[in-house]
Amino acid sequence: MPRLKVGVLISGRGSNLQALIDAARAPDYPAEIALVLSNNPAAAGLERAAKAGIPHRAIPHPDRASFAAAADSALREAGIGLVALAGYMRILDSGFVAAWRDRLINIHPSLLPSFPGLHPQRQALAAGVRFSGCTVHFVRDAVDTGPIVAQAAVPVLAGDDEDRLADRILAAEHRVYPLAVRLFAEGRLTVAGGAVAIAGAREAEGTLLNPDGAAVGPLASAGG
Ligand code: GRF
Repeated sequence: MPRLKVGVLISGRGSNLQALIDAARAPDYPAEIALVLSNNPAAAGLERAAKAGIPHRAIPHPDRASFAAAADSALREAGIGLVALAGYMRILDSGFVAAWRDRLINIHPSLLPSFPGLHPQRQALAAGVRFSGCTVHFVRDAVDTGPIVAQAAVPVLAGDDEDRLADRILAAEHRVYPLAVRLFAEGRLTVAGGAVAIAGAREAEGTLLNPDGAAVGPLASAGG
């Protein structure tokens, strides 16, 4: 079966792009990263694409509509079947979002719908949640909304600052994004209303507690 061609839009570092490139090296992975586009010519992710021998281009972003028009033609010329946003930091033109509806996904470092927008890790720490994580979702017009494909949860730990939490979430992102792209490429996702049904997926089991249940007990120093 021909592999699904994925186009990745980036603005910076590109560590999620790298995770997708690495996953696609496996011979049985059903997708290939066929094109990388960036609004930022200095994005380190463009170097990662170059190293992997993947066609890549910076597209100027004088405004949303011109970027979208140029990106759209590049993606179509390359025969792209799925567009994955990976740290693409601009708001997309709504015509582009409509044209790629249900073939356009994003990854966001929170358990959506909590903490959309900027600094989600900072928002999670301020809210005092015990778990955060990341979400892969189909893109809709409003920022960080759309039917959810996959999520990964990580605990928020005492002493976390934004960077420590972001690193823990990022490690989870690098696992969940390749998984979501695989599920899409295998044709297992159906969007119905606001939700995604996944055919034949083994679901997560069990309940995670934070603090861990076993650790909840009298403090050694607590007097009776
Ligand atoms: C990631 O945390 C992603 O979830 C968010 O932007 C960050 C991009 O990181 N949308 P990288 O460029 O993939 O390293």
